[in-house]
Amino acid sequence: MLILGIESSCDETSVAVVRDGRIILSNIVATQIEEHRLYGGVVPEIASRRHIENIGPVTEEALRRADVRIQDLDAVAVTYAPGLIGALLAGVSFAKGFCYAAEKPLVPVHHLRGHIASLYLSNKELKPPFVALVVSGGHSHVIMVKGYTEFEILGRAVDDAAGEAFDKVARTLGLPYPGGPEISKLAKDGDPDRYPLPTPHVTGQYNVSFSGLKTAVLNLVNSLRMKGEVINTADIAAAFEQKVTDILAARIADAAAEYGLPAGLCGGVSVNGVLQEKCRKLCEKKGIELYLPERALCGDNGAMIASAGYYEYLSGNTATISLNAYATLDIDMH
Ligand code: KG4
Ligand code: ZN
Repeated sequence: MLILGIESSCDETSVAVVRDGRIILSNIVATQIEEHRLYGGVVPEIASRRHIENIGPVTEEALRRADVRIQDLDAVAVTYAPGLIGALLAGVSFAKGFCYAAEKPLVPVHHLRGHIASLYLSNKELKPPFVALVVSGGHSHVIMVKGYTEFEILGRAVDDAAGEAFDKVARTLGLPYPGGPEISKLAKDGDPDRYPLPTPHVTGQYNVSFSGLKTAVLNLVNSLRMKGEVINTADIAAAFEQKVTDILAARIADAAAEYGLPAGLCGGVSVNGVLQEKCRKLCEKKGIELYLPERALCGDNGAMIASAGYYEYLSGNTATISLNAYATLDIDMH
């Protein structure tokens, strides 16, 4: 079965063709990062406009690279929630027009279900049930993946998501957007123990909180500045990265151990090398199998949406032409 997957929830316009939910025939990603970097973050209005401009050519390229004709497609999957509403609407409107004209079924896909499906593309043997840690710019969720289309949230970020915290701390340290890769690069030369950061307390066994940590970095930078001391940004980056990754790795390893299930790590932040290494070590210690997406599938992409869309389609989840987009929607409220 051939599914076209369309992703436009944030700053990547991406379209892919995936066979049977597991085999990528093409995956074209047009990123807008350079343009948003000028403003220190994603400008929603600009994102929507670029999606509208890019989505047609990116779709044509995805079909061409896959060597697939429109009539060969079995369905079109599109991210309809959560994300920037204007950005989502660009993809949803395009998908609706495409499906109407080509007479194809339309499959709505939740963005986080897409990130979880990135694990199926990179690990052909992986099947539910497993426990996933989905860490992106907008979300940090510990999710029980009961089936391909059945999910239960075990824990979540009660304030800033992990990626958001990376981005905000990067800004405090004078680094460009997106902050995750910048902090990660800088932290390699830093001493994580020079500036001890507090461990945030949060209720709920699998919840996380990063807002206090972000404020602690801000206060640290301000107090060093006021005292006229040298601010070693590499050490601060290393301390912050260490704290966040310690917390995240413990959550996924503990949850997988409690339920006796394999673990999956996915989402934009999952590309972080320190996080991957800590998850690997902890899971190995607890005898838990850990699954990761390949690097290219950690960030937003159409292939993961096509993969999730395949399983949604098999479970009978299709939409009519009246499909709407939603800025917020829980993964289990589908
Ligand atoms: O999943 P994603 O591409 O988009 C959303 O759905 O939000 O995640 C983007 C997030 C950004 O906050 C970015 O800073 C973060 O992933 N990120 C990283 C790294 N690379 C990207 N965070 C930590 N370390 C990285 N190497
Ligand atoms: Zn994402």
